[in-house]
Amino acid sequence: MTEQQFGPVTQWLSGMPKAELHLHIDGSLRAPRLLQLGKKHGVSLPYGSVEEVEAAYNFSDLQSFLDLYYLGASVLRDAEDFYLLMKDYLQVCRVQNIVHCEIMVEPQTYLPQGVELGVVLEGFDRAIAEAKSGWGQSVGLILSFLRHLPEADCLEMLKAADPYRAHFCAIGLASAERDFPPAGFQTLYREAADRGYALTAHAGEEGPPGFIRDALQLLSVTRIDHGVRATEDEDLLHQLAADRVPLTVCPLSNVRLCVYDTLSEHRIFDLLGRGLCVTVNSDDPAYFGGDLLENFAALEAGLGMTKEQALLLVRNSFEAAFLQSDEKLSLDARLQDYLARNP
Ligand code: ADE
Ligand code: ZN
Repeated sequence: MTEQQFGPVTQWLSGMPKAELHLHIDGSLRAPRLLQLGKKHGVSLPYGSVEEVEAAYNFSDLQSFLDLYYLGASVLRDAEDFYLLMKDYLQVCRVQNIVHCEIMVEPQTYLPQGVELGVVLEGFDRAIAEAKSGWGQSVGLILSFLRHLPEADCLEMLKAADPYRAHFCAIGLASAERDFPPAGFQTLYREAADRGYALTAHAGEEGPPGFIRDALQLLSVTRIDHGVRATEDEDLLHQLAADRVPLTVCPLSNVRLCVYDTLSEHRIFDLLGRGLCVTVNSDDPAYFGGDLLENFAALEAGLGMTKEQALLLVRNSFEAAFLQSDEKLSLDARLQDYLARNP
């Protein structure tokens, strides 16, 4: 969907200041850049053209996506690559008025290629500094761990990140969910809490609602990435609403990874209507067919999203952000200003 084809609510949202809280930076690596960097480093890829890359992005579940996602990320080798990757995504933020973003960085992904965290952050820092000074972009980085790897490896990475502690606002837990429950990462989360990180984790995407409960109870997370399978557990829904635990929901991702057959089955507006702090996010936009606005556009086209619902989702994105209260107040003020001019 191009911007000209957006419905009226999404057009109204396009100029509105917004936050995106669930974005894997490797998932923003688009086909042209993937091919360019693959060529640069002589990485052999099973694609010869942008069309062939996009044709391969036809997933049956989370694992079938992750296989191509890690293959794609294997082209990232030097600080310049990481600079370009971050710059590309921050340009999307600029165009779509995503004034604050929280970005998942997964350093364990780059270790097999011998790329250390310092190299990754050198590239990211340069792009973030340019976006901050260029147009006042606000950025938080989330140190995200790969749950298909042993907890001991994650702990090693947590320690390797100690010299870069100030770069990250939080830790997260991603990758294959079903066979790697939250219970296996309690030491990691305790150690991260001791270091002062905020805590989030993917839970209830493919995994059962019990994984959401365990992420809250065993890992002490204050936010849940995805969490859509909470709809299967009435008591959990009450708890999430009462505690205003944010869910970073990713509608296009859920359809492309077959969590739902079609968007019309998505329960995002039931969750919102029941008082949960639901937010909208793009997850891996290069793989799932759209950035943040395209996710909103899909909700408008497929589920009839109203202006009131859209505004609630944007307000929730500020409430759910890992920011200080004065920073949230300043985002609210920018939103009020936009609403005064664009009622
Ligand atoms: N890594 C990148 N995207 C992911 C997703 N949707 N779920 C789990 N891990 C991921
Ligand atoms: Zn994700």
